Amino acid sequence: MTHPDRYGLVGHPVQHSRSPLIHQIFARQLGENLTYELIDASPEHFETAVRGFGAAGGRGLNVTVPHKEAACALADELGEEAAAARAVNTISFLPDGRLRGDNTDGLGFMRDLTRNLGQLVQQRRVLILGAGGAARGIVGPLLRAAPMEIMLANRTGDRARALVDSFGAPSALGACAFEALAVYKPFDLVVNATSAGLHGELPPFPPSCVGPDSFCYDLSYRLKQDTPFVTWARRPGPRGALQGWGMLVEQAAEAYFIWRGRRPDTAELLKYGRPGSAAAETAHSSGGR
Ligand code: ATR
Repeated sequence: MTHPDRYGLVGHPVQHSRSPLIHQIFARQLGENLTYELIDASPEHFETAVRGFGAAGGRGLNVTVPHKEAACALADELGEEAAAARAVNTISFLPDGRLRGDNTDGLGFMRDLTRNLGQLVQQRRVLILGAGGAARGIVGPLLRAAPMEIMLANRTGDRARALVDSFGAPSALGACAFEALAVYKPFDLVVNATSAGLHGELPPFPPSCVGPDSFCYDLSYRLKQDTPFVTWARRPGPRGALQGWGMLVEQAAEAYFIWRGRRPDTAELLKYGRPGSAAAETAHSSGGR
């Protein structure tokens, strides 16, 4: 009997990750034999953990907070999205020993937003809250979808401006600090890309950015309950407010495709993220990212 191919997720922390569940369901669906491990590595142990996994025969790793930029620095070759985002969430150990880095976050986000949720980006006004690695991963794909404007707002305005500069400061992309958002009318699409929810917090943006026609999307996903941003966004009654389960599933499917050349069907897993479904309860008790 052949050994299963080894994959995993490296991050800090990772113990609540859903990625093992997602990849096992993909593998089962496609009749493939693989294992998917959780590797908790602090920043100083990140490189050793990655190289050790590859040396032991590992085929690929997903990368999560806080290692996406470090993974980009480690890669010998980068996919187009990873090069633009300067962040890697998918490492492949190539047969010649080199490391390839890809970023499937932006694609996963766009697939969930536009295909699964049917949201339009073209000619819409988009607000991104946050200017860290998560925001960086979605700016390129959003810009390519031809919005009227993307405003990138951050607690620290300078960090938002630096991110905009790193994308060549296209005219559709603006930057400001949260306070400066008070003069804008509600945006069509409001994306929370801050990590505030990880600490149970809501980023301090002016509530007037979200109106009854706004669609709110949180890149984070939280077990069993809404994220603070989604909880907040549901109250004033925008068109919709969802957390990023679909993005997590879609970015995983794209990583699976990069590693194994076969594309899983995400429909079964997307059902797990719907609040109140029996499937959701099963997933919630299984632990995840
Ligand atoms: P990630 O890879 O998850 O994006 P990151 O690169 O550390 O992580 O970026 C975190 C983002 O969340 C930043 O935009 C950060 O704002 P600052 O640049 O001002 O630090 C934002 N953030 C984190 N906690 C926040 C909070 N409590 N309120 C508002 N923004 C917060």
